[in-house]
Amino acid sequence: MFSASIYVYLISIFFSARLTLQASSPTSNYYIGAVVEYHPVTKGDNGTAIANENAKNYLTFLKTASENEVDIIVFPENALFSGKTYPLNERSNYLPHSTYLPHPKDSKVPCHDTSSNVMEAVKAMSCAAKRHAMYIVINVREKEKCTGENCSKDGHNLYNTNLVFDRTGAIIAKYRKWNLFGEAGMNRTSKPDISTFRTDFDVNFGQFICFDLLFGTPAIKLVREKKVTDIIFSSHWFSELPFLTANQIQTGWSYAHNVNFLGSGYNNPATGSGGSGIYGGKDGHFARVWSEKSANALIVAKIPKIVNGQHSQPINPNDAMVFFYSITEIPTINQQEPVPQQKIKMDDLSPYTTELFQPANGTHNLTICNNDLCCNFTTNTVHRDDMVQGAAKYYRYRFAVFNGVRSFSDIGTGGVEVCSVISCLDENPTSCNQRFDTNTIIVHPTTFNSIVISSVTKDSTNVTRVPLSINTELHPLNVTDFTFVSNKINATHVSLKYTLTKPRKDLMTFAIYGRNFTADGLPKTTSASAQIIPPIYLMSILLIILGIGNTYQVNSLLSFV
Ligand SMILES: *[C@@H]1O[C@H](CO)[C@@H](O)[C@H](O)[C@H]1NC(C)=O
Ligand SMILES: *[C@@H]1O[C@H](CO)[C@@H](O)[C@H](O)[C@H]1NC(C)=O
Ligand SMILES: *[C@@H]1O[C@H](CO)[C@@H](O)[C@H](O)[C@H]1NC(C)=O
Ligand SMILES: *[C@@H]1O[C@H](CO)[C@@H](O)[C@H](O)[C@H]1NC(C)=O
Ligand SMILES: *[C@@H]1O[C@H](CO)[C@@H](O)[C@H](O)[C@H]1NC(C)=O
Ligand SMILES: *[C@@H]1O[C@H](CO)[C@@H](O)[C@H](O)[C@H]1NC(C)=O
Ligand SMILES: *[C@@H]1O[C@H](CO)[C@@H](O)[C@H](O)[C@H]1NC(C)=O
Ligand SMILES: *[C@@H]1O[C@H](CO)[C@@H](O)[C@H](O)[C@H]1NC(C)=O
Ligand SMILES: *[C@@H]1O[C@H](CO)[C@@H](O)[C@H](O)[C@H]1NC(C)=O
Ligand SMILES: *[C@@H]1O[C@H](CO)[C@@H](O)[C@H](O)[C@H]1NC(C)=O
Repeated sequence: MFSASIYVYLISIFFSARLTLQASSPTSNYYIGAVVEYHPVTKGDNGTAIANENAKNYLTFLKTASENEVDIIVFPENALFSGKTYPLNERSNYLPHSTYLPHPKDSKVPCHDTSSNVMEAVKAMSCAAKRHAMYIVINVREKEKCTGENCSKDGHNLYNTNLVFDRTGAIIAKYRKWNLFGEAGMNRTSKPDISTFRTDFDVNFGQFICFDLLFGTPAIKLVREKKVTDIIFSSHWFSELPFLTANQIQTGWSYAHNVNFLGSGYNNPATGSGGSGIYGGKDGHFARVWSEKSANALIVAKIPKIVNGQHSQPINPNDAMVFFYSITEIPTINQQEPVPQQKIKMDDLSPYTTELFQPANGTHNLTICNNDLCCNFTTNTVHRDDMVQGAAKYYRYRFAVFNGVRSFSDIGTGGVEVCSVISCLDENPTSCNQRFDTNTIIVHPTTFNSIVISSVTKDSTNVTRVPLSINTELHPLNVTDFTFVSNKINATHVSLKYTLTKPRKDLMTFAIYGRNFTADGLPKTTSASAQIIPPIYLMSILLIILGIGNTYQVNSLLSFV
């Protein structure tokens, strides 16, 4: 059914339920969804030629998807149009390598339409949608002619746009990214697009792109106001420790809003980019991809529909498959990896109030407050002192609480409210936003038999709280490993309780991560003043300035997402 060289590591009862080549219908309990993790072609000066090459690789993913009867497939942000990026004053260089798009209300089929001014790479996707009778979601750089006061001198607006083809190859939905991550030269619509579409198998999808995930508009609106049950998320994410690694936040968002979530990631370990998955909200996930090395992969899952807030059948990870493509099938993976592992960004935890976990056996209570937010921690632990002798490497833990405003890579700020247990390389709090290199042998002396994080805090429609947890391999914990309860106790307050219910000795992060949209755009909270900076910290600042060590390349970060 698929080419022999494709490595299938999850074979299952997947096919038995549907042997006829038939699309899902309004009456089926599920549909078949797919997401792509793609390491794109980027080299060269001709953005059009690059888009054509990427389109060719997209056809390889689509072939596997078609063989597996996929109803809808999602490709990553920036991946098709992954050519050179330009500073604002050179934005006109994008124009020859950007595409016009028809309005979705016209349901145009650009495939083989010689009168259409849509770029060839995009036409090829229309043809593929038609040939495979599949819904295809791609992300493009869109150009649109403009006149008047807000039109740039080159006569065009440029957008970071997702578009959806239906099974006939027609463009039926379009979403222009609202929360741009820098992205010099790209425009924003005057009002946010709220993009939803209903498929012929009767699922109401909403879509948003990458950085949008961290904001209220349009992401939360899709769920609260448009009542979508299934989310399309295309991304070019830059993972960050301890809270915002790609699969961690995708899982958390899906859980918090209890929606099916199809997350597709642009793969580039050199910038900490990658991480895709299909998640079923509070009922668990199907499959995820997180690769330390560059990778091309496809996840296919049989996704139960959500009807009246409930999945119409249980979530079963056996209903998912992950395909990895070899370098001969998709020749973009680096043979000479520029980095040995994903280079992950580090959150600035200096304004957090933290306390070192004192290795101990038994149950311990602790309350930590930061700027009016108090979090209670009850832990039950076993600590094996015998394992930490000599030069053994192991994670320490800290309780960390924050209620304030953070910066997102100096691109914008956002309100954050966090109660967490996080892991650190040593006893210094500055080491809690990193991990040991993946080739380091570490021991796990601390087992958390249970953790209860609780807090009574102010409630608001402008605040969302997401349970986030990963182990030291950066895999999110399974939904059977924790409970998360949020209860409104009166008109103004909510009680939160996040519990680790199964013992773990490989914990990395266990956190309630709240976003307070009311505080977005306010100046970021800086560390408490008059803090004595120990010499060791000054040393690490120096190393960072000199570019030594594990620092993140901010330049490449600013170019896009
Ligand atoms: C860029 O590539 C496209 C597609 O291969 C080709 O048609 C075009 O002539 C190229 N442009 C330049 C400036 O080389
Ligand atoms: C131009 O942009 C400004 C600032 O965003 C806005 O107030 C104004 O309405 C826009 N004008 C038009 C014609 O869209
Ligand atoms: C689009 O971006 C360009 C370049 O930044 C700017 O000149 C133009 O006013 C923007 N258009 C709108 C509608 O904001
Ligand atoms: C910790 O707090 C819990 C819940 O408030 C309480 O039941 C327990 O007795 C406390 N344990 C200790 C060791 O103080
Ligand atoms: C905790 O218990 C473990 C195993 O039961 C034992 O090896 C260790 O010495 C104890 N640690 C402390 C601090 O008592
Ligand atoms: C947190 O702990 C304090 C002190 O033990 C207690 O008074 C308070 O009720 C606890 N709050 C929650 C939400 O558990
Ligand atoms: C989640 O459950 C699966 C199946 O039991 C298991 O293989 C996997 O290791 C679990 N993940 C974590 C992070 O514990
Ligand atoms: C709601 O509960 C919180 C926490 O117990 C309390 O501080 C607040 O005064 C209560 N508000 C109302 C309106 O009762
Ligand atoms: C929510 O945020 C918006 C925009 O920041 C603000 O206008 C509104 O007053 C806030 N609502 C609440 C309930 O805080
Ligand atoms: C959110 O941020 C606003 C502005 O800083 C603040 O007034 C509010 O207390 C914060 N928390 C909640 C729950 O709204």
